[in-house]
Formats: sequence, structure tokens, C-alpha cells
Amino acid sequence: MTATHQMWNVPNRMLFGWGAVTELGAHLDEFGVERPLIITDEGVRAAGVLDPLLDAIEASGRDYAIFDGVQPDPTDTVVHDAAAAYDEADADLVLGVGGGSSIDTAKAASILATNDGHILDFEGSGNVPNDPPPSVFVPTTSGTGSEVGHWTIVKDSETSIKEEIGDVSLLADLAIVDPQLTASAPAPVKAATGMDVLTHAIEAYVSIKAQSQTSALAVDSIEKVGTYLPRAVEYRGTDREALSKMARASSQAGMAFNGAGLGAVHALSHQVGGTFGVPHGLANAILLPYVMEYNLPQVPEKMATIADALGEDVDPATPSRVAGERAVAAVRRLASDVRIPETLAATAAERDAIPQLAEQAMDDGSLTGNPRATDADDLAGILERAFDGEFVTL
Ligand SMILES: [Fe+2]
Repeated sequence: MTATHQMWNVPNRMLFGWGAVTELGAHLDEFGVERPLIITDEGVRAAGVLDPLLDAIEASGRDYAIFDGVQPDPTDTVVHDAAAAYDEADADLVLGVGGGSSIDTAKAASILATNDGHILDFEGSGNVPNDPPPSVFVPTTSGTGSEVGHWTIVKDSETSIKEEIGDVSLLADLAIVDPQLTASAPAPVKAATGMDVLTHAIEAYVSIKAQSQTSALAVDSIEKVGTYLPRAVEYRGTDREALSKMARASSQAGMAFNGAGLGAVHALSHQVGGTFGVPHGLANAILLPYVMEYNLPQVPEKMATIADALGEDVDPATPSRVAGERAVAAVRRLASDVRIPETLAATAAERDAIPQLAEQAMDDGSLTGNPRATDADDLAGILERAFDGEFVTL
């Protein structure tokens, strides 16, 4: 393989549409499975979000088991608990239902269903020897895009570092994207997860590993988030269009970054989230404009395209650097519209940890897509500005 060869992995099948989970039983028939294990969290279960899935499974004449012990930023311990539940239930399909944490837990547990060892033994890319059982992933937030990706993030319970495990065998056999399931998420969750979508799309678009098909998906996703995120956050039971467009945007951005990789926003947010428990989408939403400003000199034309996608008034006569600054401003405005705080100081993150967070981020796999070279001092500078709410040029 040479550096010019590019791999892009996408799920075998995606089913999309309002109420699409009602079709679940027919697909379980196709897979020839008898007993799915649903991997989810207590909140999703208590909110009744599982009910249409359970109805669909029951209508197909099947039994099922539920593991609802997923925690935000799942650790190796949670993953092993989920894998034990799979064995105990004598299950034959992993059905991940929830936000990124549930789907990531489902992916990681599926590794342990067919492979011996500790989950962190599989860290890195392509280190899963035996194919996992069949999997169906059903997101309940428009956020991580994990349902279309082959990566899972597992937090090391000893070091609090988020480790990445990627293998093509972790792609869903079927992803069901049903925007109706996203309706009950509280507004702040819709806001933070929606900004995660925007972060995926922007980081994938400016990534050094971007490919034409990932860029097409990324730019369309940016456009959708700019238009529909505020409406989705304000959802009061009627605006199906907004939720549907955000669900599309989420999967599109997920497919984009699955081929193009991410960048410094995720490299930093993984550390801020791992160490201080700041929700993933919130950490990304805050960091995104600061990283965009840092990357702007390297990719001014791409930033100009982002500005255009976000509805900024740019034309061919606008210098790309100026247009790029408008992209940063547009992201800040969108974040503010959906009530995301401007600085890390508004979160549980602590300023004293900046040097350590920056060092750790240098080892994060997401950093490899970032268009502008970074060292630990650069990353510390970005974090400092994100704590202080300081922009160099804006
Ligand atoms: Fe993300």
C-alpha cells in the first residue's frame, strides 16, 4: 500500500426514516438470529425510547435480553459487564441502542463475544482477530455517527485515557436511523450532540485524509446542521423535518470522518472528557472555533467553503482568509444560538491540567487528520484560549 491509497469503510446496510425501527423484526429474520442482546443505558430505557424496538422484536416472535448498564464515556469495566451479559443471555446478535456511548459499548462488547482477552488488548486499528457476532446499531441522538463507523472509544478505568479501537468487522450489519427516537432528548443534549455532528463534518472536511466522497458528505452535513440544528433544539413535538435532517447530517458526518479522520478538536476533547467528564459534544462545541482559527492559515479555501455552507455571505471576490474568519464567526454564533457556553472555564475542566491534556492529545489518533501541524505547545495554546475565550483574530 502506498500513501496514495485510501480506504473508506461504510456499513453494509442503512435503513433511514421516521418510524423505521418497526421494520426491525424482518431484518432479524434475515440475519437468522434468535435472541438479540440490547445494549443501552438506563435513561434511554426509562424514557420509553426502547418501546418501539421491543414491540418490533416481540411481534417477530423472539425473545431478547437487555443490558442497560452503559455509562457515559464507557470504561473497560462497563464493556466487560456488557460482554458478560451477552454470554449469560446466550445471545446471538448485538443490538446497540442509544447515544455514542451505548453503540460504542455494543461494538466493544461484540469483540469480546468472539475473542478472549481484555478489551484494551485490541486497541489500535485492525487488531480484532475473530469477527464479532452480527450487529444492529440504532442511534437515539443525532450526534456521534457511531452507527456508521468502525471505531469504538473505551476509557481505560485506570488512566482515564480514552483508547480507540478500530476494525472493519465492527461496522454494523445494519444501521437503523430513525429520527423519531431522537425526539425525547432534552434540548441541551440535542444542542451538544448536534455540535458534535458539526465538528465531525468540519474536521473531516479539512482533514489531510479527506477524499472527494467524504468531503461531499461533510459539506452537505455542515449545511444541514447550520439550517436545522436550532430548530431541532427547539423541537416541541411537530418539527419532524428538523429532527430528520439532523439525523441525516449525523450519519453523513459519521461516514465522512470514518474515511477522512478527525482533527485537533477531537484529540483535545477526548482528553477533556476523559479527565473531567465534560460531555463529548459540549467539549467539541466549545473547542471547535478555537481549533478552526488555528487551522485557518493552512486551509483558507476550505474554511471559505464552510462559511458558504453555513449561509455566510461570501462570493468569489471575498478573500478566502476573510471568508474563513466568517466560518469561525458563524460557528460561534450557531453555538451561542443553541446555548453552548463560550469557554472551557464554564465546564468541569481545570486550567491547571492544560499541559497534561496537551501532552496526552499529542498521542490521540484523531490528531493525525489535523491539517496544520501541532506540537504540545500549540495544543496548550488552543486550550488556554478556549479557557479564556480569547480569539487571536476575531
Ligand atoms: Fe465526536
